[in-house]
Amino acid sequence: MPDKKRRLIIVSNRLPLSLKKTDSGSYESSLSSGGLVTALSGISSSTNVRWFGWPGTNVEDEEERKTAQKALNDKDAVGIFLDEKLAHAHYNEFSNGIAWPILHYHSGVSFNEDAWKAYQKVNTIFADTVAASIQDGDLVWVHDYHLLLFPQYLRERLEAAGKKRVPIGFTLHTPFPAEDFWRALPVQKELLRGVLACDLVGFHTDEYKRNFIECCSRGLELEVKDGHGHDPEVEGGCDEIVYGGQTVHTGTFIVGIDPQKFMDGLQGEGVRARVDELEDMYKRKIVILGVDRLDYTKGLVQKLQGYEHFLAEHPELKSRVTLIQVAIPSREDVKEYQELEKELSQLVGKITGEHSTPDGSPIVYMHHSVPFTDLTALYRIADVCLITSRRDGMNLVAAEYVACQKDRYGVLVLSELAGAAAFMGKGSITFNPSSAQQLSDAVYQAATMGVEEKKRRYEELEEFVTTNTSAKWGETFTNVLWGFAKED
Ligand code: UDP
Ligand code: G6P
Repeated sequence: MPDKKRRLIIVSNRLPLSLKKTDSGSYESSLSSGGLVTALSGISSSTNVRWFGWPGTNVEDEEERKTAQKALNDKDAVGIFLDEKLAHAHYNEFSNGIAWPILHYHSGVSFNEDAWKAYQKVNTIFADTVAASIQDGDLVWVHDYHLLLFPQYLRERLEAAGKKRVPIGFTLHTPFPAEDFWRALPVQKELLRGVLACDLVGFHTDEYKRNFIECCSRGLELEVKDGHGHDPEVEGGCDEIVYGGQTVHTGTFIVGIDPQKFMDGLQGEGVRARVDELEDMYKRKIVILGVDRLDYTKGLVQKLQGYEHFLAEHPELKSRVTLIQVAIPSREDVKEYQELEKELSQLVGKITGEHSTPDGSPIVYMHHSVPFTDLTALYRIADVCLITSRRDGMNLVAAEYVACQKDRYGVLVLSELAGAAAFMGKGSITFNPSSAQQLSDAVYQAATMGVEEKKRRYEELEEFVTTNTSAKWGETFTNVLWGFAKED
């Protein structure tokens, strides 16, 4: 059992808080975007946590760094400041230009030695910083593809310092691809070895876990033991990979959200007022909602093309439906994201031009993030939530939508290629986002579904979302990880 006095050290590239310099020269922090931050947000409130990561900005001046660090320390976070060029090569070029596309089966990636060196360097800087402040007995939980080498670097430093009772866990928040795709990456073996310095490696679905094991057993020729029956806390048990005389455990840990946060939010005055306003505004409409980071993995081009196909196939519904799409700006220094932004703007223009009538436009497109009040109100009033990911580690928007639809029974239309489909497929309408026809049929089915069927499907989803919370995920993973702590 976890000892509350022991510390949980969380390490991720992005801190839950992003720093911004104000006009007066001080620093203020705001909540970062994305599923990783959402998934972990509940944990810090229940455990003695210290979170290490990059604060999303570069601060050159030493004195200013101290001020910025203080703003973070007040919230149990430690900023790892990086030189701008180095951060760019690590984050934009290797992590998001090479690792992210490979992990999401996106082809046409060209390898870049300088970016790889920067990736190694940043993982080293993270390991030096974290190792210096670790006490024997702490627990370390590392997150995501920006830090695949970090566990190995940290383990080396801890062993050199004689700190032997520090279990290290790793969770990947993206898919892990099949072996024949993954091995196209020239440094794949180094990355696998980096992660294998952990005691426990967690994935969002069994498929990702199987792929990882296959890469270790074929690529690194390691022995794998089926873990059925072990670790009753983990669905399906943990499998074991033998590496360097040590046993590395791998398991599927279902990540979730904090549904109560949304249910409480809906009771708040601000959200209730917003729900009333939006309901009045869209009272004659069937609202279809999309909430995605502006990322090619989210299938936004396919969403708009499929929606256009739907409008063309069902002219009788044209004036009755509205697609409200929130496209959260993301990774704007990466070329592919910039090109995608342009392509989407053009597609939105085309749909608006061709399908608008004097009664309005069938699409509302927002290329900015939205405050929690608006997000919750949109989840509440939407009749359908449309998720078109071409690949997606899990997709927490699906769960957030369900959390806001109690007694309203909105329909989730979910790409079968999102990790969430492995668990929420039964209550939703699933489809392949590469087919505009399948997307159109799925939206039509959702828009015309009778209340009995909506209720039946919703109840399946509600059960999943309220059972598999982020708190349960965090507790299960850390409990299993604590089990690997070596005694004195
Ligand atoms: N989100 C956000 N800002 C917004 C709208 C949504 O940060 O303006 C959140 C959303 O509530 C969800 C997360 O971003 O928790 C997206 O997580 P998801 O797992 O769906 O995808 P990811 O961005 O991690 O790929
Ligand atoms: C995904 C990744 C996270 C990342 C988030 C937002 O959820 O798995 O690691 O933090 O996207 O992306 P960003 O590049 O802004 O951190």
